[in-house]
Amino acid sequence: MVNNSRRIATDFSGLMRHPAVQAALPSCRQQIAMQPELLSPQAVHRLLKSRRSIRRFEPTPIPDDTMTRVLESAKWAPSAHNRQPWRFAVLANRAWQQRLADAMAAQLTADLQVDGVPQEAIEKDTQRSQQRLTSAAALVVVCLTMGDMDTYPDAIRQQNERIMAIQSTAMAGQNLLLAAHAEGLGGVWMCGPLFCPDVVRTTLELPAAWEPQGVIALGFPAEMRTKTREPLNTRVVYR
Ligand SMILES: Cc1cc2nc3c(=O)[nH]c(=O)nc-3n(C[C@H](O)[C@H](O)[C@H](O)COP(=O)(O)O)c2cc1C
Repeated sequence: MVNNSRRIATDFSGLMRHPAVQAALPSCRQQIAMQPELLSPQAVHRLLKSRRSIRRFEPTPIPDDTMTRVLESAKWAPSAHNRQPWRFAVLANRAWQQRLADAMAAQLTADLQVDGVPQEAIEKDTQRSQQRLTSAAALVVVCLTMGDMDTYPDAIRQQNERIMAIQSTAMAGQNLLLAAHAEGLGGVWMCGPLFCPDVVRTTLELPAAWEPQGVIALGFPAEMRTKTREPLNTRVVYR
């Protein structure tokens, strides 16, 4: 079934001039603005800028209610047509984490052997990946599904729809990392599952339509990291 909500006309200028809409605008603006007594813009900017990718964790488990709050905030990310194509598999259990780490390590080993990488380097690489996955207090495997997205008869628009699902899912991942940071947790997005989606889906017994995109390792941080960013004028143009 083709469901193209994007084709609906989006010229709201007449509607915006309507007296009822004009009367409601001040309260809309109030709703949209951050409530300063809760969170100043400076505090938000500080939160956004102070998040770092954390790869070493304390063994302390993440309380269930903390994890739920983090996932709740993740799901408030924007998404194309508000279809919310993200799916999360939460692994707070060491046995499942180990199972995933072992399966991904086996696939990584096979891939690197095909590439002709020396065995010693392969072992170093796989051990590092396994260590990160099993030392996290929890893993969130970030997946997407195309199940609720629009379908098109042509490959180009279908590909664009797919990219929108990927973009939406990445936004949920960023929300999740920031919410975790706000809770005092550390986290890192790891790309491994993107390279072995079938292995991840099979190992974790996930629904067939779930496409693993990455895994976020989470836990109370056992390291401090610093990073730099390029100056704004190397990344922005104004027209
Ligand atoms: C799509 C994506 C894939 C990433 N994959 C990995 C990864 O596989 N392993 C890893 O240690 N970090 C990974 N990272 C984290 C980046 O290395 C990190 O975000 C970057 O170095 C900037 O550091 P910061 O997050 O501390 O600011 C990934 C980040 C993104 C957004």
